[in-house]
Amino acid sequence: MKLLSIFFAALASANIQDLSIRAQGLNPAVEAIQFLNLGYTGYYFDVKKLEYDGSCKCEQESLVHKFNGTNAPYDEQLSVHFRGPLTLHGFAFYSGDDYVRGSSSSGSFSRVSYFNASEQQSHNLTFLTNAGDDSKCLGKALTYASSNGTGSSNSPSLLEKNNLIHSDDEYSIWSNTTCEKSGLDNDCGVYRKDIPALHGFAGATKLFLFEFEMPTEDRKNNSNIFYDMPAIWLLNAKIPRTSQYASNSDCSCWASGCGEYDIFEIMNSTESSHLYSTIHGYQGTGNINLGIQAPGHFERDLKNTMKGGVVFDSSGNAYSFLLNSTTLSDSIDAKELDQWINTEEEVTNPMASVTLTTSQKKSEGIVPKSSLMSLIVSLFSFVMYI
Ligand SMILES: *[C@@H]1O[C@H](CO)[C@@H](O)[C@H](O)[C@H]1NC(C)=O
Ligand SMILES: *[C@@H]1O[C@H](CO)[C@@H](O)[C@H](O)[C@H]1NC(C)=O
Ligand SMILES: *[C@@H]1O[C@H](CO)[C@@H](O)[C@H](O)[C@H]1NC(C)=O
Ligand SMILES: *[C@@H]1O[C@H](CO)[C@@H](O)[C@H](O)[C@H]1NC(C)=O
Ligand SMILES: *[C@@H]1O[C@H](CO)[C@@H](O)[C@H](O)[C@H]1NC(C)=O
Ligand SMILES: *[C@@H]1O[C@H](CO)[C@@H](O)[C@H](O)[C@H]1NC(C)=O
Ligand SMILES: *[C@@H]1O[C@H](CO)[C@@H](O)[C@H](O)[C@H]1NC(C)=O
Ligand SMILES: *[C@@H]1O[C@H](CO)[C@@H](O)[C@H](O)[C@H]1NC(C)=O
Repeated sequence: MKLLSIFFAALASANIQDLSIRAQGLNPAVEAIQFLNLGYTGYYFDVKKLEYDGSCKCEQESLVHKFNGTNAPYDEQLSVHFRGPLTLHGFAFYSGDDYVRGSSSSGSFSRVSYFNASEQQSHNLTFLTNAGDDSKCLGKALTYASSNGTGSSNSPSLLEKNNLIHSDDEYSIWSNTTCEKSGLDNDCGVYRKDIPALHGFAGATKLFLFEFEMPTEDRKNNSNIFYDMPAIWLLNAKIPRTSQYASNSDCSCWASGCGEYDIFEIMNSTESSHLYSTIHGYQGTGNINLGIQAPGHFERDLKNTMKGGVVFDSSGNAYSFLLNSTTLSDSIDAKELDQWINTEEEVTNPMASVTLTTSQKKSEGIVPKSSLMSLIVSLFSFVMYI
């Protein structure tokens, strides 16, 4: 059992460079990756007004949206995103009561949302995709996905049994709880007017499980941006409800750090069988584009079904794992989960030091409104279990 661990702590007030942990030359194949001490006191900017035309002058709220606590901001509503080549056999979302990995907690996770492709069975979830009205500023709007995952539909559909999607194709999974009307103070904030607006999956202690295939792309590269680069990831649900691919970063809360967690992601075609886990936020880094990527990877199995997921525990730790022992049963108790993410053999690496900078790092034209925004880290240590 190989488990890779990343620890980050938020302390004093200084901005931070991205952490070049790869310089250590470590990139082992692992079955679990953990981000320890996840969650911090910080803030991001909510979108106040969306613009649909080419001028793309979206406005952000000037009062910051503050967050704090265990796993924050990943305790907020998250939507679940998929990119091909990928076939989804099953998905499950669980709410947990009290689970701290490795502490023999007595808690358990109960399944709140579920999809089973072969049985064409689902509970409390909705498939959406970016196939709606096109806007020069915001890109295509979310719509209900048709049964192939990428077409648009007027009503909710279940993903069909053989649901292979191809390079660049994406869809997302949401709960089936409808948002209140669009508005800063409402449950879903401001959102695009022409979408089915649904809740994501909220809560500090939660678990997402997947059963899927990521076969080699069998089509030619048709100018694909992500040719043969499948991924499964989580976004703060406010991002796609405003705009996932806007031409102005003010049109979503992404650049200001409301949260993205990449669970299984192919980063480039040089490493087309390495699935990485990355957090894009301001915890541990001032560079949200790079984020914090674990210096280890999961092996993409091109032939077999893969199983795994991510758990956010009650004391601020997140574990991505790719394990054959994963089952999407209706209840999973803490001890069972502990057995999956087994940490018997543990090797601790020396602490890696971090370069502190005094100014906010600009990245790809995205300039956060305030230097306060970037989090603030003074310590980074790196642990590896083999
Ligand atoms: C933490 O956030 C909650 C809302 O989620 C808020 O009620 C509370 O005041 C915040 N606490 C601090 C110390 O900022
Ligand atoms: C789908 O349901 C069948 C029959 O209950 C079960 O054997 C299979 O494991 C389920 N698949 C997933 C991904 O949960
Ligand atoms: C949401 O899911 C519940 C439970 O599966 C179901 O009873 C309800 O009709 C669904 N609502 C919508 C809007 O799809
Ligand atoms: C997916 O379904 C939509 C309609 O529901 C259709 O227009 C589209 O061609 C389909 N895509 C593929 C790749 O079959
Ligand atoms: C459906 O999912 C939402 C969001 O995760 C949750 O709040 C709600 O309790 C669920 N409803 C049912 C009937 O499971
Ligand atoms: C696929 O095509 C695009 C556009 O021509 C190119 O940028 C990309 O590098 C190609 N990918 C691969 C893996 O060949
Ligand atoms: C591919 O992605 C990995 C992980 O982010 C990175 O270490 C590597 O340098 C990338 N390779 C290329 C050629 O960009
Ligand atoms: C997981 O199961 C697949 C077959 O579905 C097998 O090829 C693979 O070796 C297994 N992985 C491990 C680590 O046992």
